[in-house]
Amino acid sequence: MSVKNDLLKLLEKSRGDYISGEQLAEKLGVSRAAIWKAIKSLKTGGYSISAVPNKGYSLAENTDILSEESIVKYLGDAASDLRISVYKVLPSTNKFARELAEEGEGEGKVIFAESQTNGHGRRGRDFFSPESTGIYMSLLLRPHFPAYQSLLLTTAAAVASARAIEDVSGKPAMIKWVNDVYMDNRKVCGILTEASLSLESGGLNYAVLGIGINVLPPKGGFPDSISNIAANVVDNVTGDVRSRLAAKVLTYFMEYYKDLTSKPFFDEYRRRLFFLGKKITILRGTSSTPATALDIDEDFHLLVQYEDGTKEYLSSGEISIKLQ
Ligand code: BTN
Repeated sequence: MSVKNDLLKLLEKSRGDYISGEQLAEKLGVSRAAIWKAIKSLKTGGYSISAVPNKGYSLAENTDILSEESIVKYLGDAASDLRISVYKVLPSTNKFARELAEEGEGEGKVIFAESQTNGHGRRGRDFFSPESTGIYMSLLLRPHFPAYQSLLLTTAAAVASARAIEDVSGKPAMIKWVNDVYMDNRKVCGILTEASLSLESGGLNYAVLGIGINVLPPKGGFPDSISNIAANVVDNVTGDVRSRLAAKVLTYFMEYYKDLTSKPFFDEYRRRLFFLGKKITILRGTSSTPATALDIDEDFHLLVQYEDGTKEYLSSGEISIKLQ
């Protein structure tokens, strides 16, 4: 760890309060000049740090820059299972995490980016990933279960994200089958799980769980193509809101992950589904079929009833649904 990272950790711990340069230097076992240099470098990186004679340095309460230090401090026990790296910009955190997995990186690596230039979602769609207003993260996992159970990663992440979003915003967060989180009928979060299959074992070599959350309003607004379906979780920065939210998502998810195949999150997933009992349109390739969403089964298949009264269980694969 560099002096800069160690210093950030101390400033994060006492966010809003002052610590003297002397104390900081003593704690880190470096000179006051080294502290001053590290403060300067943090400021250049966008941190708002005030320096007051006879009081010392203080990290502004409303600093909302993602860093390992700002996230880890909220992680509690989950911190010991996770290794976090934050990048300013990446093409896609999922792509980067997959590359690390191919190079042998172990379970628990989490990649964050402040922005993505090529963020993607399901069915090859782009995921709008502007700078400093969202959470774009990918968690590398090496699960020990058969490949057909991979959907559990996505559904557990959907519940973890919905719970975390609700905690932070104080407003209801619902799940749109199978992998999106909505507030007030608008998408605030999408999840994309990508996996590498082991043909020998029928299991997974690894899975990368990618989560994208629109936390704050994007600076230039949402692009026209999604402006009528996308929304943000909160309207204003309150403290380190993105770090708090990211840590909550990871904490809830890691709790479910311990016992994933028992599906401890199933009831909550079902309760948060906001299409049940409603008329929907099922989109399969270029065809669209009206139906009513009735329920899900224990494998998260969606039970629908068509207009002629017949019923069918749908699996998420190539299908998407929208409200009629
Ligand atoms: C969807 O809406 O279909 C899923 C969106 C998933 C977006 C996240 S952002 C972090 C990670 N990196 C990506 O390129 N995609 C996922």
